[in-house]
Parts: sequence; C-alpha cells; structure tokens
Amino acid sequence: MTKIIKIEIIARPRNYEELIEALNDIGITGMTVTQVMGRGNQKGSSHSYRGIHYITKLLPKVKIEIVVGEEFKDLIVNKTKELLKTGSPGDGKIFIYDITNVIRIRDDQEDQDALTK
Ligand SMILES: Nc1ncnc2c1ncn2[C@@H]1O[C@H](COP(=O)(O)OP(=O)(O)OP(=O)(O)O)[C@@H](O)[C@H]1O
Ligand SMILES: [Mg+2]
Repeated sequence: MTKIIKIEIIARPRNYEELIEALNDIGITGMTVTQVMGRGNQKGSSHSYRGIHYITKLLPKVKIEIVVGEEFKDLIVNKTKELLKTGSPGDGKIFIYDITNVIRIRDDQEDQDALTK
C-alpha cells in the first residue's frame, strides 16, 4: 500500500497557473488552491503592493494543496522548483504531510481508491 501525502506549496502568485497546467499535463488534477497572506524569515517595515498598503508585513501568496500517492512527490517538487524558483527571497516553501485517510463522500471509496478511481 502506497503512502498518501499532502504537498502544500506556498509560493508567489506569479506563474502559479503555469504550475497547475504542468501538473494537469502529468495527470494530477485534484487540488485546492487558496489565495493567502504570509511571511517567511524576512523582517521589514510596512509596504505597498498593487496600491494596497500592508502594515502587517504579510505578502500575498498562493497556497496549492495536493493529496497524492507518495510516488508523485519528486515529480511535483521538481516541477515546482523548475517553474517557480527565481533564486530571490520569497520564492516560497513546500510542506509535506502524511495523510491518514481519504474518503470520497459520493461512493464511500477510501484512500488510494478515492484518489484514483
Ligand atoms: N515557517 C513557516 N510556517 C508557515 N508558513 C510559512 C513558513 N515559512 C514560510 N511560510 C509561508 O511561505 C511563504 C513564502 O515564504 P518565503 O519564501 O519567504 O520563505 P523564507 O524561509 O523566508 O525563504 P526566503 O529566504 O527565500 O524568503 C510565506 O509568505 C508564508 O506564507
Ligand atoms: Mg522570505
């Protein structure tokens, strides 16, 4: 039985659609995408972004959550780096979680079956 993981990518909003296209092309379709605010290790004062003044030092980011079999891990991580890495601070982070259960509500399928069938 393969392990099921969640890959959570938090990255710049720039180019994220290109990543979603690329994942779609390799057969990864199930995902949740959320517009979020965040900060990493950088310190700094308040700033403006697209005309909006942020006093909290949070920047707009996109969060992409994908639940897949572990065999997709390297593929997804490598694609993300290939498309979203600029080498500058703020490129983002990838968090990987173990998933204990997946249950599809419609037909009671569970785990790997709920993901693939
Ligand atoms: N420790 C963390 N916990 C939760 N979310 C985080 C954490 N670190 C980063 N994030 C999220 O990832 C986003 C991007 O982080 P960021 O790329 O700035 O990380 P970093 O560690 O500061 O690296 P860099 O030096 O490249 O900026 C943040 O805006 C935040 O949403
Ligand atoms: Mg940072």
